[in-house]
Amino acid sequence: MATKKRIKTIGVITPGGDAPGMNTAIRAVVRTAIYNGLKVYGIERGWQGLIEGKIRDLELSSVGGIINKGGTMLHTHRCPEFKNKEVRKKACEKFRAFNIDGLVVIGGDGSLHASYVLYKEFDIPIINIPASIDNDIYGTDYSIGFDTAVNTAVEAIDKIRDTATSHERVFVVEVMGRNNGFIALDVGLTSGAEAIIIPEVPFNIDAISQKLRYGQQRGKSSFIVVVAEGAAKAHDIAKALEKRTKLDVRVSILGHMQRGGSPSALSREAACKLGSRAVQLLKEGKKALMVGLISDRVIETPVEEVMRKKKPIDMAVYKLANMLAS
Ligand code: F6P
Repeated sequence: MATKKRIKTIGVITPGGDAPGMNTAIRAVVRTAIYNGLKVYGIERGWQGLIEGKIRDLELSSVGGIINKGGTMLHTHRCPEFKNKEVRKKACEKFRAFNIDGLVVIGGDGSLHASYVLYKEFDIPIINIPASIDNDIYGTDYSIGFDTAVNTAVEAIDKIRDTATSHERVFVVEVMGRNNGFIALDVGLTSGAEAIIIPEVPFNIDAISQKLRYGQQRGKSSFIVVVAEGAAKAHDIAKALEKRTKLDVRVSILGHMQRGGSPSALSREAACKLGSRAVQLLKEGKKALMVGLISDRVIETPVEEVMRKKKPIDMAVYKLANMLAS
């Protein structure tokens, strides 16, 4: 849908959980906007900052030296109050007070929903950029930060594998991913995990135990079981495996280390391309769209469609991981 008003000033915000590559995306937004003659405001501390008017000018130099930095230079804050319409109205007033004509929202699933409500209620032109380590957003193959988080977890598991091999142990490694198994699946495949437990596929603890026992009989000396945080508690899985296999089992919960660190080249590439396209779309008068990468091409999908559709787990990859780790 096209707006009549010419866009002169835009805002950029990073609400919700941080993801590596958000800074790279902010840089792309700011530099593309200034290149196109637009003024840019940075909104600090997510929706909370918008409510409080924590809004500042961003110049070319404001985003220097951040392309390789994890986290978000704009800071962020979980803001449950944003579910309240009165609070959103207050946020919108701040938006108008600064004459912001359009907004680029860099964030995950929650940010996408919140910004769509803002668009519906107050007709604010918004373009969303998917940035979340979870990679659970429809309309893009990768969200910014996912590849970095997977690399971080794989690097950690490679190290854990050394101890697992030396002590002939099983390690149950819990990775992030809220209610989905995208991180666990990629991490499991690329770290050679003997089993992957994700919410999308029912698991059978007896079958996993049997697989580990067969492995042991064949002379395997280490076993990694990757479990998505939304599928089961790593400690419960460890107890159940120890009881059934009599193997020595340890737990490692990787936690927030997966959200930090310098963004990978792939996360940066996505951030550069999507950040720049988001600004161009606002300039063209577009709104309520999410930019994404499908088969390496930048594409736009209506946010309404992104919210309605669920991104599926690739079952072929799940089967492949299991086959290769047999
Ligand atoms: O959505 C990103 C994510 O890291 C999830 O994987 C995780 O469940 C959640 O955020 C943790 O949120 P918080 O940092 O608020 O505890």
